[in-house]
Amino acid sequence: MTPELLFAMPGNEALAKTLAGALGCGIGTLVMRKFPDGETYLRFKSAIGRKHIALISTLADPDPKIIPLLFAADAARTMGAAQVGLVVPYLAYLRQDHSFEPGEAVTSRAMAALLSQHFDWLVTADPHLHRYKSLAELYTIPATAVHAAPAVSAWIAAHVENPFLIGPDEESAQWVSETARDINAPYVTLKKTRRGDRSVTVSAPDLTTIDDRTPILLDDIISSGRTMLEAVKLLRAQGVAHPICLAIHGLFADHSDQALIELGARLVTTNSVPNPYAQIDLTGILADGLHTLA
Ligand code: R5P
Repeated sequence: MTPELLFAMPGNEALAKTLAGALGCGIGTLVMRKFPDGETYLRFKSAIGRKHIALISTLADPDPKIIPLLFAADAARTMGAAQVGLVVPYLAYLRQDHSFEPGEAVTSRAMAALLSQHFDWLVTADPHLHRYKSLAELYTIPATAVHAAPAVSAWIAAHVENPFLIGPDEESAQWVSETARDINAPYVTLKKTRRGDRSVTVSAPDLTTIDDRTPILLDDIISSGRTMLEAVKLLRAQGVAHPICLAIHGLFADHSDQALIELGARLVTTNSVPNPYAQIDLTGILADGLHTLA
């Protein structure tokens, strides 16, 4: 499914350009600014007519982005768009997938309901699915998840000699094992206990078997950074070399990128969220995902 026009929400212009190139579709112009009172002004400056359009918006730090995104989708529909799709390289609000305490909102469901109401389809990269098996359990629109693993493997193969992959928790085993198989590298996963948003402990087996290989801590998301920080400290305490911290989605809340760099880690992420460490381009993988949509 190829949209005829792709519109970048603010901050998504670089990926919009490469993705439009890969898809062979046009790039439209969408102007957005804030009124003095903080409300959002939006204007599509490209004619939409009966076109099939898509918006691209990553959703790191999602709350300020969601209202403008929904307004843009509604405006496009009002202008006559035949279909309005969403390319969302990082899809937020997947981690609260259960009401752990009475009264807690299951925001993964609420978010899915909102996006399903406003869009005809979506494509995202490596959504954090834990209790849900697939996006289809949440989204009522066609929702495709593409996987960054081939791009991650290619980056490691091209840039790191003798890698040793380390998953910082049991959940990471799914992508760490796949990547290790792709590049024929050994791997191990650590054990993590989360006590709060910013409180995790990580334990590890004997890691001295890494020898002179380059340790790569591989995870789907660096959010508060606490998982990676604790894992890096553990590696260093065992005398393992400074690792590469590689994540698909680099959110780096609380300036955790700086804290990781201060511990001697090198940071690498995909460009699902624009950041200075985004060395792995997801353009081709996202374009393939759009092609698979019926
Ligand atoms: C958890 O299951 C995920 O795979 C990541 O390990 C987690 O989201 C990282 O979060 P933080 O950076 O806040 O420790």
